[in-house]
Amino acid sequence: MTDLSSLPADFVWGVATSAYQIEGSVRADGRGSSIWDDFCRTPEAIDGGDTGEVACDSYRRWPEDLELLTSVGANSYRFSVAWPRVQPTGSGAVNAAGLDYYDRLVDDLLAAGITPFTTLYHWDLPSALQRRGGWVARDTAYRFAEYAGIVAGRLGDRVTDWVTLNEPLCSAWIGHLEGRMAPGIRDLHSAVHASYHLLLGHGLATDAIRHAAASTPSVGIVNNLSPCEPAGDSTEDIVAATRADGHTNRWWLDPLHGKGFPADMVQLYGIELPERTGDLQTIAAPLDFLGLNYYMRMVVRADPTVATLGYRQVPVAGAVTTALDWEVHPQGLEELLLRLTKDYDAPALYVTENGSAWTDEPDADGYVADTERTDYLLSHLAAMNSAAAQGAPVKGYFAWSLLDNFEWAYGYWPRFGLAYVDFRTQRRTLKLSGQTYAELIRTGQAAAPIT
Ligand code: IFM
Repeated sequence: MTDLSSLPADFVWGVATSAYQIEGSVRADGRGSSIWDDFCRTPEAIDGGDTGEVACDSYRRWPEDLELLTSVGANSYRFSVAWPRVQPTGSGAVNAAGLDYYDRLVDDLLAAGITPFTTLYHWDLPSALQRRGGWVARDTAYRFAEYAGIVAGRLGDRVTDWVTLNEPLCSAWIGHLEGRMAPGIRDLHSAVHASYHLLLGHGLATDAIRHAAASTPSVGIVNNLSPCEPAGDSTEDIVAATRADGHTNRWWLDPLHGKGFPADMVQLYGIELPERTGDLQTIAAPLDFLGLNYYMRMVVRADPTVATLGYRQVPVAGAVTTALDWEVHPQGLEELLLRLTKDYDAPALYVTENGSAWTDEPDADGYVADTERTDYLLSHLAAMNSAAAQGAPVKGYFAWSLLDNFEWAYGYWPRFGLAYVDFRTQRRTLKLSGQTYAELIRTGQAAAPIT
């Protein structure tokens, strides 16, 4: 049996999704365009030329997905609000139909006994704001706070748990430095300024939520973190791992916790921060919880040919990897939960995403026996429990994801769902992993991982 004995009795067992990855209906009910609609039209940007235009059609099939949530027995659902549905141009007038949609979704969840866990930004910036500079422009941070206040003002009588940003690392580094995600920019200056304004937006939005919500909110941010380890024991590799840790983890965690931006990284980037008086206090607004999205560790080797950062991630010999070549390393989850507890004094922790991508196919009976995903799930739950046993204040776990969905630049081929989606018919079928998770939530017990 997987040991879950150290988790609190009121543990939150959830599943997570995000708007652009599942909703589709990109032109329905007055929704504006987002940077992901634009990016999907960029030639070669997305594998197979896929887009989120239809995705899982969840905007229209929400009642079906609510049934799925109920069949899994999740007691919380982490979803994101699409900013361009609420404010089609990212500022000013509210699109009532867009906000109504999430209002109904929250009511439906509560009626089904499922707690809404609401993310305000999961990467779908309104295109109109991108035309004004996007996250590279300071104004976007203020616009984000305005939007956060609007949503919290409407839903905050029923929603308690709020996430400002999902994985700002991806928005800044992958979207503005590597160009592999929207808005597809490759420029260090833009990336560093975007990272700064994302964090500023988080701080401003935290304050806006606390002012606008009718009941006392619990506000946090979600970071995707990875333990960073040197590939070898040379000084160069050890320096590389410290840099990788700075870029991946400390750049986000330190300013959020009042430690300022890490000096070694500011020096390495060599970009002046657009700092104004009071910004660091705003960014370090006290958090009610920290969300951790955990997928893998990073093993890095020094590589002077890599501009600025001087390292690259390398594969680990003999490691089990998922379809995306991400190493399966559950110990990394335990390590990070303990680090957030010890180094950042986290008041409460949620594993806001954890999951694995495979290329599942149903058998002749239409069943998906996804043993690798099931094993991944159970081994990571055991690692989380072990962190809790050592004092990490873990309050909840959200499996990524309820459904196979639009996996950004990879399109639809990597499947992360607990439920299989046949994208031709939109039929959903719970996989073995989904059934195992449901059983675990129902009984508090689960089989041991196979490996
Ligand atoms: O699908 C993504 C999600 O949008 C953010 N976190 C990682 C997931 C898997 O790549």
